[in-house]
Amino acid sequence: MHKAVCPGSFDPVTNGHLDILSRASKLYDEVYVAVLVNKSKRGMFTLDERMDMVRETTAGYGNVVVESFGGLLVDFCRERDIQVIVKGLRAVSDFDYELQMAQMNQQLSGIDTFFISTSPQYSFLSSSLVREVAKYGGDVSGMVPPKVATRLKQRYAEQSVDGGEKP
Ligand code: PNS
Repeated sequence: MHKAVCPGSFDPVTNGHLDILSRASKLYDEVYVAVLVNKSKRGMFTLDERMDMVRETTAGYGNVVVESFGGLLVDFCRERDIQVIVKGLRAVSDFDYELQMAQMNQQLSGIDTFFISTSPQYSFLSSSLVREVAKYGGDVSGMVPPKVATRLKQRYAEQSVDGGEKP
């Protein structure tokens, strides 16, 4: 059984993430999506919301398991006998930090990181830019799945009713 993990914050999941997850799901028997419990920065969506959105949008792949994690990624891998970390590379700007993390994870555990090149139509996409565009009422269809676009609209509508951003 060949298992891989795709880690991230997924705040929210984008079509760029799904590009990598769908391709990884064809390469490995089981793909874990490890959703980061973000202790330092307050996210747009709660952990449960982020996990729900990943679950909803990857259900059709048939071999994706969505779980949360809050410690070291390599411990998450060891506990589940996951042999490979899979990451998407959008551009050279991703490379330095991704290489550093891959080398650290390799040093800590011997687990290798495999990079999949993001499909060019998604190379500009990030969750933070999607949040920003959605915040000012921009059109994010084509960047996130329709259900995620709806949730983004709802979240920003709630915030404007509440009188602004969450503290
Ligand atoms: O979507 P993000 O926020 O860019 O994902 C970053 C993530 C979750 C992949 C990275 O922060 C991570 O792997 N965190 C786990 C902590 C860890 O294992 N750190 C040491 C190895 S670099």
